[in-house]
This record gives sequence, structure tokens and C-alpha cells, in this order.
Amino acid sequence: MADVWHVGVDQVPESLAVLLDERDRARRRQIAVPADRSRFLAAWVLARLVLGEKLGREPAALSFRRACAHCGDPTHGKPVVETDGPRPDFSLAHSGGLAVLVVSDRAVGVDVEDATAREQPLAPALSARERANCRSYADFARLWTRKEALLKAVGKGLAVHPRHIEVLGTTLLALPAALGRPEDYTLRDLPLPAPYVGSVAALGSRLSLSVRSGESLVGRAAQACGTRSIPARIAGPE
Ligand SMILES: CC(C)(COP(=O)(O)OP(=O)(O)OC[C@H]1O[C@@H](n2cnc3c(N)ncnc32)[C@H](O)[C@@H]1OP(=O)(O)O)[C@@H](O)C(=O)NCCC(=O)NCCS
Repeated sequence: MADVWHVGVDQVPESLAVLLDERDRARRRQIAVPADRSRFLAAWVLARLVLGEKLGREPAALSFRRACAHCGDPTHGKPVVETDGPRPDFSLAHSGGLAVLVVSDRAVGVDVEDATAREQPLAPALSARERANCRSYADFARLWTRKEALLKAVGKGLAVHPRHIEVLGTTLLALPAALGRPEDYTLRDLPLPAPYVGSVAALGSRLSLSVRSGESLVGRAAQACGTRSIPARIAGPE
């Protein structure tokens, strides 16, 4: 099972920055572009609210570390939530006006792209078979999110060149042997608000997905922030 949450970046008010810890704030201060700072806020507020609910902890009290699966450097790489109990895996992605989070008990990765961005498709990232299946930028964006979701699930990110991952539809055809066998993973496309496309990759087979908007979760948190200190469990029924 994997839980996917998405939220519009402009639905997350600045007041919710109180949920971030000093490490998040320092990271955010280093982001030069204001739109990127807003995307960071939206993604991390969503992560703290959803993981806080899942772990029964106060969102602002959660702490995270990074673990680069490629070089071991703790200053970058896939974020991991600190917990004494079973640790859910999670992955974040942001693009344009949308932030997306996936949480699962398995290793998971998520990626999102604006299918209308009309950037130049990165031909060197594609195999001949993939190029033949990319008739539009939207096709490329979809394919890219499947590859990047897989690379984020294994914690490598773009340290592994996406040309080493080959995907046909949501079937993984090839990946570097060090990451396992294609049949070890499941890829699923996400129903996201237009113009965004996104995919989730997870270790293991038969993945069931729940995809939800985090708008009301964030709205309740913003209300709670405006009226009192942050309660331990902000989330209620959607
Ligand atoms: C991680 C990466 C795939 C993100 O791509 P992007 O399209 O710019 O950004 P996205 O919105 O899709 O994802 C960003 C999120 O991915 C997560 N992330 C970062 N590194 C990750 C990794 N190695 N594995 C999984 N997730 C990672 C973070 O949560 C990040 O958001 P944050 O910085 O706000 O916390 C890409 O920037 C990357 O791989 N960078 C590292 C390259 C690298 O590893 N170089 C060599 C290091 S030794």
C-alpha cells in the first residue's frame, strides 16, 4: 500500500512555516528562487502533517536525516524520518505549482512534472525504444517521471543516469544490476490535477495506491496554527 498526497503550492500559507525545524529553515534560506522556497515549504509541511499523523507525533516535533545511497554523504540524498518504531519510507516531489508526497511501508519514490512545460525532451536519457514511444512532450514527461520515481525509490536520484533505466508504459524493462531486477519493482502512474503528470515506484509487486488532495489537511493545520499551538494530531477525516 502507498499513500499519495498532493497539494497546490499556493494552498500552503507562510504561517505553516512554524512546522519546520531549524534544519528545514536553514535549508530553505539557502534556496535563492522565491518560487522554489514556496515549493519547499509546501512539500515539507505536507510531509510533516502526513507523517506526524501516521506516527502519532506532533508534526513540528518530527526530525529527518538524509542518507545519500550513492556516496553516503549525510548532507544530501533521500530524506528519512527519525523514529524508534517501524520507519515508513517516503518521497517528495515538486514541480510548478504542485507538491506531491508518497508514504509507504516499502521503499517508494515519486516524481511529478508539468506535462505542458514544453521543455526540450532529454533525448540522451531515452533508449531507441523509448524514443519511438515519445510522440509529444507530455509522453516524455510521463516517461521521465517513471524513471525518476524509480531512482528516488532506491535513493540514488540522478546519480544514476536515467538512460540506464528503461521503461515501456509502466513496465520496467531494464535497470542497473546493482539496483536489482525489473520484476523487483512496481511502477504506477498517478491521477494528478492537470497539467501535472506523476508516477510512483515501489519495491515489490501488487502495489495498491490511495491518492488524495492534502488541501483540507493543510487548511485544518493553518486554522489550528492561527488559533493555538500545534496539536499532536491535526488530521481528521478527509
Ligand atoms: C533528487 C533529484 C532526483 C530531484 O530532482 P528534481 O526534479 O530537481 O526535484 P523533485 O522535486 O523531483 O524532488 C526533490 C526531492 O527529492 C528528494 N531527494 C533528494 N535526493 C534524493 C535521492 N537521492 N533519492 C530520493 N529522493 C531524493 C528530496 O526530498 C527533494 O526535495 P527537498 O530538497 O525539498 O527535500 C535530483 O535533484 C538528484 O538526483 N540530485 C542529486 C544528484 C546526485 O545524487 N549527485 C551525486 C551525489 S553523490
